[in-house]
Amino acid sequence: MPALTLRTIERPRDDDAFVAFLSTHEFPLHVQTRPTAEDARARLASGIIDGPGALGCWVLADGEAVGIVMLEDLEDDTAMIDLRLAADARGRGVGTAVLPAIVTEVFGQFPSVRRLEGQTREDNVAMRRAFRRAGWVKEAHFREGWPVAGGPALGSVAYAVLRSDWLSGTTTPVPWDDGL
Ligand SMILES: CC(C)(COP(=O)(O)OP(=O)(O)OC[C@H]1O[C@@H](n2cnc3c(N)ncnc32)[C@H](O)[C@@H]1OP(=O)(O)O)[C@@H](O)C(=O)NCCC(=O)NCCS
Repeated sequence: MPALTLRTIERPRDDDAFVAFLSTHEFPLHVQTRPTAEDARARLASGIIDGPGALGCWVLADGEAVGIVMLEDLEDDTAMIDLRLAADARGRGVGTAVLPAIVTEVFGQFPSVRRLEGQTREDNVAMRRAFRRAGWVKEAHFREGWPVAGGPALGSVAYAVLRSDWLSGTTTPVPWDDGL
């Protein structure tokens, strides 16, 4: 496994590289599977990586960019994560291994955040297994919560990690069996 680090995506210096990354790779299990360069620029302009409460980072493997992580709502109680690796970097353990670094970045730099949450399509096995392997807890399975163009909606599954668990090194389960 290469050494994995995060580096802030700097604007405007990294704009072209960000646009190239998003528009080069396919994201088959996202709502927008193949963003165009125009889509990517529109996202940049909307503040997706440097707007209020937003942060974008490169995922670096031995110093080389192999992915991006986009974080939102970093000024709230619950922040949201969207992790995307380059197509040729997937399935080699990078996603699982980088999640703890992202958690450390968020809880270390953004004091309001108590929960970091990610939602993914129910058939995104790689993301779901990566979350589980990294100790995130499945908190919800929203049936038909993920629209699919031209087909029936799929489920959206939510995983989260708590600051309190991160600090104490424990994993608090969801109280499913609370009698109601
Ligand atoms: C989702 C993603 C971040 C996961 O990272 P990754 O480095 O590919 O995943 P890993 O190699 O760490 O694998 C995690 C687990 O999924 C399994 N896995 C990996 N790719 C898989 C695939 N295509 N199908 C089924 N299982 C897969 C691995 O075997 C591993 O399981 P294990 O821990 O039980 O052995 C990455 O695949 C990606 O960027 N995909 C496209 C964008 C995306 O869907 N992002 C999710 C946004 S919410």
